[in-house]
Amino acid sequence: MKATGGVAALASASGLASGRDDGSTVDVQGHLDDLTLREKAGQMTQITLDSLDPAELPDVFADPGVGSVLSGGAEPPTFDPAELVAGVNDLQEHAMETTDHGVPFVYGIDAVHGNATVEGATVFPHNLGLGATRNVDAVRAVAGVTGRSVESIGAHWTFSPTADVQRDARWGRFYEGFSEDSYLTGIMSRAKVAGYEETGQTGSCVKHFAGYSVPENGSDRHPANTSMRDLRENVLPPYEMALGGDPETVMVNSGSVNGVPAHASTWLLTRVLRERWGYEGMVVSDWQDFLRMVELHEYVPTLREATKRGIEAGVDMYMNPEEPGAFVDMVVDLVESGDLDEARVDEAVGRILRFKANLGLFEDPYADESAHEDAVGAGQSVASSVTEQTMTLLKNDDALPLDEDPGTLLLTGPATDSTSMQMGGWTLGWQGLGNESEMAAAPRATTIFEAMQEAVASSSSLVHEQTGYDFSTWWEGTEFFFDDEEAVRSAAADADAVVLALGEVPHSEGVGDRTDLALPEPQRRLVAAVSDAAPADTPLVGVLYAGSPLGNAETFDHLDGVLMAYQPGTEGGPAVADALFGASNPSGRLPFTWPTSVGQSPNYYDAWPPAQENEPLYPFGHGLSYTDFEYDDLTVSPASVADVAEQGHVTAEVTVTNAGDRAGDHVIDAYATESYGSVIHPNRRLVGSDRVSLEPGESERVAVQVPLITLEVVPGDVPGVRERTVEASDYTLAVGEQTATLTVTEDGSVSRGGPMASLADVNEDGRVDGRDLRELLGVLRGNRDEDDGSGWQGDDVHPGRGPDGDGPPGHRRDDDGHPGKGHGRDD
Ligand code: BGC
Ligand code: BGC
Repeated sequence: MKATGGVAALASASGLASGRDDGSTVDVQGHLDDLTLREKAGQMTQITLDSLDPAELPDVFADPGVGSVLSGGAEPPTFDPAELVAGVNDLQEHAMETTDHGVPFVYGIDAVHGNATVEGATVFPHNLGLGATRNVDAVRAVAGVTGRSVESIGAHWTFSPTADVQRDARWGRFYEGFSEDSYLTGIMSRAKVAGYEETGQTGSCVKHFAGYSVPENGSDRHPANTSMRDLRENVLPPYEMALGGDPETVMVNSGSVNGVPAHASTWLLTRVLRERWGYEGMVVSDWQDFLRMVELHEYVPTLREATKRGIEAGVDMYMNPEEPGAFVDMVVDLVESGDLDEARVDEAVGRILRFKANLGLFEDPYADESAHEDAVGAGQSVASSVTEQTMTLLKNDDALPLDEDPGTLLLTGPATDSTSMQMGGWTLGWQGLGNESEMAAAPRATTIFEAMQEAVASSSSLVHEQTGYDFSTWWEGTEFFFDDEEAVRSAAADADAVVLALGEVPHSEGVGDRTDLALPEPQRRLVAAVSDAAPADTPLVGVLYAGSPLGNAETFDHLDGVLMAYQPGTEGGPAVADALFGASNPSGRLPFTWPTSVGQSPNYYDAWPPAQENEPLYPFGHGLSYTDFEYDDLTVSPASVADVAEQGHVTAEVTVTNAGDRAGDHVIDAYATESYGSVIHPNRRLVGSDRVSLEPGESERVAVQVPLITLEVVPGDVPGVRERTVEASDYTLAVGEQTATLTVTEDGSVSRGGPMASLADVNEDGRVDGRDLRELLGVLRGNRDEDDGSGWQGDDVHPGRGPDGDGPPGHRRDDDGHPGKGHGRDD
């Protein structure tokens, strides 16, 4: 059994002892003291496992010993779990025998939607689909199953969850995050962390810190321009919430934020992450991102300078150096030449060793070689129930549910029988699975066609016309085809109902960036042809396997029903068939806004007003059902709050009635829809969600918890540096058309992070341009008005006191007058 995680382990008295939940401790400090500088640099190195044969790997095992290995892109050296775990154990044995310090390596893998890295794996929906369920417990269960599977193949660590807020559908990694809503993203990320670590015993990795998902032009690893207010209200909170699950590690954003590569940002990696949020786990770079500082960001001229800045800013481990041996030499040289403080190296390596201690690697670095037999394909019922809950019904003009005895049912489109499209990216390969005929191995999966064969009554006939694609060569571009138009047209002419399974190719990282949100042209032609050929009273239903708002009115106007199925994984086929035939009742709600066209992107529901002229195709939270749910009697209690921090949350209660004639699950989304303050408050903010399951005619009084932190804004003028605050105001809470008023009578902070002291944050020692901050503040005091961006206000500047005179925790100075560091937990 491993300990609870980085933060808990660090709290132990001796600092570098690793607290273990079985009461034992590992002498991390002792291990650190035993290492030479070269060996420490080795610990900071993470190499790619291109092979399980040490002779084929970079020669860093014996000298200086390598800290970590990874299988990037969900692609281990073999997809055979038995071969993999045995090979990893052998490699670990080799590592342990060839070095004299006896520190095992830690093995990381991209198990981001289930452990979709080996043959026979149970694959869960990608995060975007999970966001539609609003079901935090289910997400935690998904991560628990995944963690056990990761451990069973000999890995110790998964590069998940993605806590990036997803506002921009042009960005190809949209599907990897839970939502455009930052609170929903935060609670789901936290649930995944907890599931991996507490249940699954696998280290997690909150990524990509911070701001990876908001490149201004929608392209991967392009610069993010985000104001301090936007960063602190929307972009940073999900990462901070994810830390609440106690993750062992955090991964850094490959892009730049407001003109600084995240990997070189001391403000992000040290000021915010460590000092304000108190995070004590390990920080890993993303893929070759020191090199990217030179080649992509053109930030520094040499890799040496990039390495120095990255490590100084707070990166503890470097992922996949192009030349691992050269990286080790460089770190050693940086220290020996006096360009990098060895104390910083010790700090990084201390965290790496503690991570390994928490995983139990010092006691037993080897994996059980038979656990995979049960673990890899486990979680069938978790997958089936969560996948059902992701299904989101976008449109239904009396087309659905289909009759189980529909007569002649035509099933057509590229996604009808495509495991690749059903899984999406990061599935037994970086860009997902290729063509079925060329797959080296496959996860467990039932396709739509297979599930429909089961579901359609024997008195009906199912006609299957799969249209084509070629996903074998993503680096040259993937393709869809529609070259069998005559066959499809004639089948459509005879059909009593048509299901068109459409969507996007699996992809990741840049490959999926898009400048168009329409479906690929062959699919648009397919829909138009079917609509033209089918009899007028034949229902036409579209199913979308997509990790983004793919498709627009041009296509949907031809269809009588549209079901968004996301990238559902193993249980996708049955979940779709059940939803179409009414064996289940769709209950998903869009976790993002569906723009009318790419020109409307980014378009997110909680943007600042006005929302007019920007009406999306489908709003955030949209999702139909086969029954009707009605709301009555919304109340909020308490209805008036003075101290938001003490109160923590209020409860919105509403009576939900299933007024239709089918049973169904229903997600209740509660919003704050109107309030005013010193800054613009968003038109709508999701403040809480819950789920109920109701029989026809049944009613239930549902209590939705509304955490008051969801109402926080960064008050004050343009710089946006003041403490996150719930401003005194009347807040209109709404569930459907029902509204109730919550009155907050006093400004207050729930996150209690204190303002951002931007002057103190620029330099590590609290000095600005060589001058003491206290002295400088004295100089500045005379000539500014309210809020100049320092986070300190006009006449109210006293050592030891914040702007409100109540000394916000992130802001105290210690006795020698330097601004204090690291007292604030939040912000
Ligand atoms: C991605 C990460 C991933 C890592 C390892 C990077 O390029 O950005 O999300 O975890 O590779 O595959
Ligand atoms: C690797 C991925 C990685 C990507 C980065 C690929 O070759 O397999 O893990 O994320 O490169 O660009």
